[in-house]
Amino acid sequence: MTRIFSGVKPTGHLTLGNYLGAIRRWADEDQHRAESLFCVVDLHALTMEHDPARVRRLSRQAASLMLAAGLDPQGCTVFVQSHVDEHARLSYLLECVATDGEMRRMIQYKEKVVRAQSAGQSVRLSLLTYPALMAADILAYGADEVPVGEDQAQHVELTRDLAERFNLRYGRTFVVPRVTLPTVAARVMDLQDPTGKMGKSHDSTAGIIYLLDEPAVITKKVTRAVTDSASGVEYEPSERPGVANLLEILSSCTGKEPRTLAEDYDSYGALKRDTAEAVVELLRPLQTRHAELSADPGYVDGVLKDGAARARALARPTVDAAYRAIGLLPPT
Ligand code: AMP
Ligand code: TRP
Repeated sequence: MTRIFSGVKPTGHLTLGNYLGAIRRWADEDQHRAESLFCVVDLHALTMEHDPARVRRLSRQAASLMLAAGLDPQGCTVFVQSHVDEHARLSYLLECVATDGEMRRMIQYKEKVVRAQSAGQSVRLSLLTYPALMAADILAYGADEVPVGEDQAQHVELTRDLAERFNLRYGRTFVVPRVTLPTVAARVMDLQDPTGKMGKSHDSTAGIIYLLDEPAVITKKVTRAVTDSASGVEYEPSERPGVANLLEILSSCTGKEPRTLAEDYDSYGALKRDTAEAVVELLRPLQTRHAELSADPGYVDGVLKDGAARARALARPTVDAAYRAIGLLPPT
Protein backbone atom coordinates (compact mmCIF):
# COMPACT_ATOMS: atom_id res chain seq x y z
CA MET A 1 0.00 0.00 0.00
CA THR A 2 1.18 3.51 -0.77
CA ARG A 3 2.56 5.34 2.24
CA ILE A 4 2.27 9.10 2.69
CA PHE A 5 4.10 11.43 5.05
CA SER A 6 3.72 15.16 5.52
CA GLY A 7 4.12 17.75 8.23
CA VAL A 8 3.47 21.27 9.40
CA LYS A 9 5.76 23.48 11.51
CA PRO A 10 4.35 25.05 14.69
CA THR A 11 5.95 28.43 13.99
CA GLY A 12 2.74 30.44 13.80
CA HIS A 13 -1.01 30.14 13.47
CA LEU A 14 -1.94 28.00 10.48
CA THR A 15 -3.02 29.86 7.36
CA LEU A 16 -5.28 29.41 4.36
CA GLY A 17 -2.06 28.59 2.45
CA ASN A 18 -1.37 25.63 4.76
CA TYR A 19 -4.93 24.45 4.32
CA LEU A 20 -5.32 24.80 0.54
CA GLY A 21 -1.73 23.79 -0.22
CA ALA A 22 -1.51 20.81 2.09
CA ILE A 23 -3.89 19.95 4.95
CA ARG A 24 -7.15 19.87 3.01
CA ARG A 25 -5.74 17.26 0.63
CA TRP A 26 -4.43 15.18 3.51
CA ALA A 27 -7.93 15.08 5.00
CA ASP A 28 -10.08 14.83 1.88
CA GLU A 29 -7.96 12.51 -0.27
CA ASP A 30 -4.64 11.21 1.05
CA GLN A 31 -5.78 9.56 4.28
CA HIS A 32 -8.46 7.60 2.39
CA ARG A 33 -6.23 6.16 -0.30
CA ALA A 34 -2.95 5.43 1.49
CA GLU A 35 -1.37 4.60 4.81
CA SER A 36 -0.74 8.14 5.98
CA LEU A 37 1.27 9.88 8.68
CA PHE A 38 0.79 13.56 9.46
CA CYS A 39 3.19 15.21 11.84
CA VAL A 40 3.54 18.44 13.80
CA VAL A 41 7.23 18.95 13.08
CA ASP A 42 8.15 20.82 16.25
CA LEU A 43 11.92 20.28 15.98
CA HIS A 44 11.80 22.35 12.79
CA ALA A 45 10.29 25.23 14.77
CA LEU A 46 13.59 25.62 16.64
CA THR A 47 15.59 26.65 13.59
CA MET A 48 14.74 30.35 14.00
CA GLU A 49 14.45 32.44 17.19
CA HIS A 50 11.56 31.01 19.15
CA ASP A 51 9.60 31.31 22.36
CA PRO A 52 9.41 27.89 24.09
CA ALA A 53 5.92 28.40 25.56
CA ARG A 54 4.59 29.55 22.18
CA VAL A 55 6.00 26.55 20.31
CA ARG A 56 4.38 24.25 22.88
CA ARG A 57 1.03 26.03 22.53
CA LEU A 58 1.17 26.14 18.73
CA SER A 59 2.08 22.44 18.55
CA ARG A 60 -1.11 21.42 20.32
CA GLN A 61 -3.10 23.92 18.28
CA ALA A 62 -1.69 22.61 14.98
CA ALA A 63 -2.60 19.05 15.96
CA SER A 64 -6.07 20.14 16.92
CA LEU A 65 -6.54 22.03 13.63
CA MET A 66 -5.38 19.01 11.64
CA LEU A 67 -8.02 16.92 13.39
CA ALA A 68 -10.61 19.69 12.93
CA ALA A 69 -9.78 19.67 9.20
CA GLY A 70 -10.90 16.06 9.12
CA LEU A 71 -7.85 13.88 9.76
CA ASP A 72 -9.29 10.73 11.30
CA PRO A 73 -7.00 9.13 13.88
CA GLN A 74 -8.63 5.77 13.13
CA GLY A 75 -7.54 6.06 9.52
CA CYS A 76 -4.18 7.84 9.73
CA THR A 77 -1.41 8.57 12.22
CA VAL A 78 -1.23 12.06 13.72
CA PHE A 79 1.73 12.78 15.99
CA VAL A 80 4.40 15.19 17.16
CA GLN A 81 7.91 14.82 15.72
CA SER A 82 9.81 15.22 18.99
CA HIS A 83 7.85 12.34 20.52
CA VAL A 84 9.60 9.94 18.17
CA ASP A 85 13.41 9.82 18.58
CA GLU A 86 13.97 8.18 15.19
CA HIS A 87 13.75 11.53 13.36
CA ALA A 88 16.76 13.04 15.11
CA ARG A 89 18.58 9.70 15.04
CA LEU A 90 18.27 9.40 11.29
CA SER A 91 18.89 13.07 10.61
CA TYR A 92 22.51 12.75 11.74
CA LEU A 93 23.19 9.94 9.28
CA LEU A 94 21.71 12.01 6.47
CA GLU A 95 23.97 14.92 7.43
CA CYS A 96 26.81 12.48 6.79
CA VAL A 97 25.45 11.81 3.29
CA ALA A 98 24.53 15.39 2.33
CA THR A 99 27.05 18.02 1.32
CA ASP A 100 27.50 21.52 2.67
CA GLY A 101 27.04 22.89 -0.86
CA GLU A 102 23.67 21.30 -1.50
CA MET A 103 22.31 22.53 1.83
CA ARG A 104 23.43 26.08 1.05
CA ARG A 105 21.62 25.98 -2.29
CA MET A 106 18.19 25.62 -0.64
CA ILE A 107 16.04 28.63 -1.52
CA GLN A 108 14.32 28.68 1.86
CA TYR A 109 17.69 28.73 3.64
CA LYS A 110 18.91 31.64 1.55
CA GLU A 111 15.69 33.60 2.12
CA LYS A 112 15.65 32.97 5.85
CA VAL A 113 19.30 33.94 6.27
CA VAL A 114 18.48 37.32 4.75
CA ARG A 115 15.46 37.67 7.02
CA ALA A 116 17.37 36.70 10.19
CA GLN A 117 20.23 39.03 9.37
CA SER A 118 18.00 41.99 8.60
CA ALA A 119 16.29 41.44 11.98
CA GLY A 120 19.73 41.49 13.62
CA GLN A 121 19.45 37.81 14.62
CA SER A 122 22.15 35.21 14.30
CA VAL A 123 21.60 32.27 11.95
CA ARG A 124 21.20 28.96 13.74
CA LEU A 125 23.22 26.06 12.38
CA SER A 126 20.02 23.97 12.41
CA LEU A 127 18.57 26.28 9.74
CA LEU A 128 21.25 25.01 7.38
CA THR A 129 20.88 21.34 8.32
CA TYR A 130 17.05 21.45 8.43
CA PRO A 131 16.58 19.64 5.08
CA ALA A 132 18.47 16.62 6.49
CA LEU A 133 15.94 16.46 9.32
CA MET A 134 13.08 16.86 6.87
CA ALA A 135 14.55 14.05 4.75
CA ALA A 136 14.79 11.91 7.89
CA ASP A 137 11.09 12.60 8.63
CA ILE A 138 10.16 11.21 5.23
CA LEU A 139 12.69 8.39 4.82
CA ALA A 140 12.23 6.92 8.32
CA TYR A 141 8.72 5.87 7.29
CA GLY A 142 9.48 4.63 3.81
CA ALA A 143 7.00 7.18 2.44
CA ASP A 144 6.24 6.94 -1.29
CA GLU A 145 4.49 10.31 -1.53
CA VAL A 146 4.92 13.67 0.16
CA PRO A 147 1.95 16.01 -0.31
CA VAL A 148 3.16 19.59 0.23
CA GLY A 149 2.81 23.09 -1.19
CA GLU A 150 5.16 24.23 -3.92
CA ASP A 151 7.63 25.91 -1.53
CA GLN A 152 8.65 22.49 -0.19
CA ALA A 153 9.26 20.82 -3.56
CA GLN A 154 12.99 21.59 -3.49
CA HIS A 155 13.38 19.95 -0.07
CA VAL A 156 11.61 16.81 -1.31
CA GLU A 157 13.91 16.75 -4.35
CA LEU A 158 16.89 16.87 -2.00
CA THR A 159 15.35 14.05 0.03
CA ARG A 160 15.21 11.96 -3.15
CA ASP A 161 18.87 12.70 -3.88
CA LEU A 162 19.92 11.72 -0.34
CA ALA A 163 17.89 8.49 -0.45
CA GLU A 164 19.39 7.51 -3.80
CA ARG A 165 22.91 8.35 -2.70
CA PHE A 166 22.55 6.41 0.56
CA ASN A 167 21.10 3.38 -1.26
CA LEU A 168 23.90 3.44 -3.82
CA ARG A 169 26.70 3.72 -1.28
CA TYR A 170 25.44 1.54 1.54
CA GLY A 171 22.85 -0.76 0.01
CA ARG A 172 19.16 -0.38 -0.61
CA THR A 173 17.67 1.00 2.62
CA PHE A 174 15.24 3.79 1.72
CA VAL A 175 12.19 4.20 -0.48
CA VAL A 176 12.79 7.12 -2.87
CA PRO A 177 9.76 9.40 -2.31
CA ARG A 178 8.05 11.75 -4.73
CA VAL A 179 6.41 15.11 -4.16
CA THR A 180 2.70 15.59 -4.89
CA LEU A 181 1.48 19.16 -5.40
CA PRO A 182 -2.10 20.47 -5.48
CA THR A 183 -3.39 21.26 -8.97
CA VAL A 184 -4.51 24.72 -7.90
CA ALA A 185 -3.39 26.93 -4.97
CA ALA A 186 0.00 25.21 -4.69
CA ARG A 187 1.32 28.61 -3.65
CA VAL A 188 -1.26 30.89 -2.06
CA MET A 189 0.09 34.44 -2.09
CA ASP A 190 -0.05 37.14 0.58
CA LEU A 191 -3.13 39.30 -0.05
CA GLN A 192 -1.12 42.48 0.58
CA ASP A 193 1.94 41.38 -1.38
CA PRO A 194 0.83 38.94 -4.07
CA THR A 195 4.40 38.41 -5.23
CA GLY A 196 5.22 36.70 -1.91
CA LYS A 197 3.87 33.51 -0.34
CA MET A 198 1.18 33.71 2.36
CA GLY A 199 3.48 32.61 5.21
CA LYS A 200 2.44 32.12 8.81
CA SER A 201 5.42 33.85 10.39
CA HIS A 202 5.40 37.12 8.47
CA ASP A 203 5.39 40.33 10.47
CA SER A 204 2.49 42.01 8.76
CA THR A 205 -0.71 39.98 9.12
CA ALA A 206 -3.12 42.05 6.96
CA GLY A 207 -2.50 39.85 3.93
CA ILE A 208 -2.68 36.52 5.76
CA ILE A 209 -5.89 34.59 6.36
CA TYR A 210 -5.54 32.45 9.47
CA LEU A 211 -7.69 29.35 9.79
CA LEU A 212 -9.13 30.69 13.03
CA ASP A 213 -9.87 34.23 11.76
CA GLU A 214 -13.45 35.33 12.43
CA PRO A 215 -15.68 35.65 9.32
CA ALA A 216 -15.66 39.46 9.57
CA VAL A 217 -11.86 39.49 9.67
CA ILE A 218 -11.63 37.19 6.66
CA THR A 219 -14.04 39.40 4.73
CA LYS A 220 -12.04 42.53 5.61
CA LYS A 221 -8.72 40.97 4.58
CA VAL A 222 -10.09 39.75 1.24
CA THR A 223 -11.85 43.06 0.55
CA ARG A 224 -8.59 44.94 1.12
CA ALA A 225 -6.50 42.54 -0.99
CA VAL A 226 -4.10 44.33 -3.33
CA THR A 227 -5.13 43.92 -6.97
CA ASP A 228 -4.04 46.29 -9.73
CA SER A 229 -5.32 49.30 -11.61
CA ALA A 230 -6.25 47.44 -14.81
CA SER A 231 -9.97 47.03 -15.34
CA GLY A 232 -11.73 43.74 -15.97
CA VAL A 233 -11.01 40.39 -14.38
CA GLU A 234 -8.50 38.16 -16.14
CA TYR A 235 -6.37 35.23 -15.02
CA GLU A 236 -2.79 36.36 -15.74
CA PRO A 237 -0.59 35.11 -12.88
CA SER A 238 2.63 36.85 -13.89
CA GLU A 239 1.09 40.14 -15.09
CA ARG A 240 -1.69 40.41 -12.52
CA PRO A 241 -0.70 38.33 -9.49
CA GLY A 242 -3.21 39.85 -7.05
CA VAL A 243 -6.27 39.01 -9.15
CA ALA A 244 -4.82 35.62 -10.07
CA ASN A 245 -4.35 34.82 -6.38
CA LEU A 246 -8.00 35.63 -5.61
CA LEU A 247 -9.13 33.53 -8.59
CA GLU A 248 -6.99 30.62 -7.42
CA ILE A 249 -8.35 30.83 -3.89
CA LEU A 250 -11.92 30.93 -5.24
CA SER A 251 -11.11 28.10 -7.62
CA SER A 252 -9.75 26.01 -4.79
CA CYS A 253 -12.97 26.61 -2.82
CA THR A 254 -15.39 25.98 -5.69
CA GLY A 255 -13.60 23.45 -7.89
CA LYS A 256 -14.03 25.66 -11.00
CA GLU A 257 -11.00 26.57 -13.12
CA PRO A 258 -9.53 30.05 -12.42
CA ARG A 259 -9.78 31.00 -16.09
CA THR A 260 -13.44 29.98 -16.27
CA LEU A 261 -14.18 31.88 -13.08
CA ALA A 262 -12.54 35.02 -14.50
CA GLU A 263 -15.17 35.07 -17.25
CA ASP A 264 -17.94 35.29 -14.64
CA TYR A 265 -16.70 38.61 -13.25
CA ASP A 266 -16.28 42.09 -14.57
CA SER A 267 -15.45 43.85 -11.31
CA TYR A 268 -13.00 43.25 -8.49
CA GLY A 269 -15.71 44.05 -5.96
CA ALA A 270 -17.88 41.08 -6.94
CA LEU A 271 -14.86 38.76 -7.16
CA LYS A 272 -13.73 39.78 -3.68
CA ARG A 273 -17.22 39.42 -2.23
CA ASP A 274 -17.61 35.88 -3.59
CA THR A 275 -14.08 34.88 -2.60
CA ALA A 276 -14.56 36.11 0.96
CA GLU A 277 -17.87 34.26 1.22
CA ALA A 278 -16.38 31.05 -0.20
CA VAL A 279 -13.45 31.14 2.25
CA VAL A 280 -15.74 31.85 5.22
CA GLU A 281 -17.95 28.89 4.28
CA LEU A 282 -14.96 26.63 3.60
CA LEU A 283 -13.51 27.31 7.05
CA ARG A 284 -16.75 27.34 9.03
CA PRO A 285 -16.96 23.58 9.76
CA LEU A 286 -13.27 23.45 10.61
CA GLN A 287 -13.65 26.33 13.07
CA THR A 288 -16.67 24.71 14.73
CA ARG A 289 -14.87 21.41 15.13
CA HIS A 290 -11.76 23.16 16.44
CA ALA A 291 -13.82 24.88 19.15
CA GLU A 292 -15.17 21.47 20.23
CA LEU A 293 -11.70 19.93 20.31
CA SER A 294 -10.27 22.85 22.29
CA ALA A 295 -12.78 22.11 25.01
CA ASP A 296 -11.37 18.58 25.24
CA PRO A 297 -7.54 18.76 25.32
CA GLY A 298 -7.40 15.24 26.80
CA TYR A 299 -8.74 13.87 23.52
CA VAL A 300 -6.05 15.57 21.42
CA ASP A 301 -3.32 14.43 23.83
CA GLY A 302 -4.61 10.85 23.58
CA VAL A 303 -4.54 10.96 19.79
CA LEU A 304 -0.94 12.24 19.85
CA LYS A 305 0.13 9.57 22.32
CA ASP A 306 -1.31 6.73 20.21
CA GLY A 307 0.06 8.34 17.06
CA ALA A 308 3.60 8.53 18.47
CA ALA A 309 3.49 4.87 19.50
CA ARG A 310 2.41 3.82 16.01
CA ALA A 311 4.98 6.07 14.34
CA ARG A 312 7.80 4.79 16.55
CA ALA A 313 7.02 1.19 15.66
CA LEU A 314 7.03 2.02 11.94
CA ALA A 315 10.23 4.07 11.94
CA ARG A 316 12.43 2.01 14.22
CA PRO A 317 13.26 -0.90 11.86
CA THR A 318 14.18 1.39 8.96
CA VAL A 319 16.38 3.64 11.09
CA ASP A 320 18.06 0.61 12.69
CA ALA A 321 18.71 -0.76 9.21
CA ALA A 322 20.28 2.55 8.16
CA TYR A 323 22.56 2.50 11.24
CA ARG A 324 23.76 -0.97 10.33
CA ALA A 325 24.14 -0.22 6.63
CA ILE A 326 26.31 2.85 7.18
CA GLY A 327 28.79 0.89 9.31
CA LEU A 328 27.79 1.43 12.93
CA LEU A 329 28.30 -1.54 15.19
CA PRO A 330 24.91 -2.79 16.39
CA PRO A 331 24.49 -2.97 20.18
CA THR A 332 24.39 -6.51 21.52
P1 AMP B 1 4.74 25.28 6.89
O1 AMP B 1 3.81 26.39 7.21
O2 AMP B 1 5.99 25.78 6.26
O3 AMP B 1 4.96 24.34 8.01
O4 AMP B 1 4.00 24.44 5.75
C1 AMP B 1 3.13 23.35 5.95
C2 AMP B 1 2.58 22.92 4.61
O5 AMP B 1 1.77 23.96 4.05
C3 AMP B 1 3.68 22.63 3.57
O6 AMP B 1 3.27 21.55 2.78
C4 AMP B 1 3.73 23.90 2.76
O7 AMP B 1 4.19 23.69 1.45
C5 AMP B 1 2.26 24.30 2.75
N1 AMP B 1 2.12 25.76 2.59
C6 AMP B 1 2.58 26.71 3.45
N2 AMP B 1 2.28 27.95 2.99
C7 AMP B 1 1.66 27.78 1.80
C8 AMP B 1 1.11 28.66 0.82
N3 AMP B 1 1.13 29.98 0.99
N4 AMP B 1 0.53 28.12 -0.28
C9 AMP B 1 0.47 26.78 -0.45
N5 AMP B 1 0.97 25.88 0.43
C10 AMP B 1 1.55 26.37 1.54
N1 TRP C 1 9.67 21.78 5.93
C1 TRP C 1 8.25 21.71 5.85
C2 TRP C 1 7.66 23.12 5.83
O1 TRP C 1 8.31 24.05 6.19
C3 TRP C 1 7.64 20.96 7.01
C4 TRP C 1 8.13 19.57 7.03
C5 TRP C 1 9.08 19.06 7.87
C6 TRP C 1 7.72 18.51 6.17
N2 TRP C 1 9.27 17.75 7.61
C7 TRP C 1 8.46 17.38 6.59
C8 TRP C 1 6.80 18.41 5.13
C9 TRP C 1 8.34 16.16 5.94
C10 TRP C 1 6.69 17.18 4.48
C11 TRP C 1 7.44 16.07 4.88
O2 TRP C 1 6.56 23.26 5.43
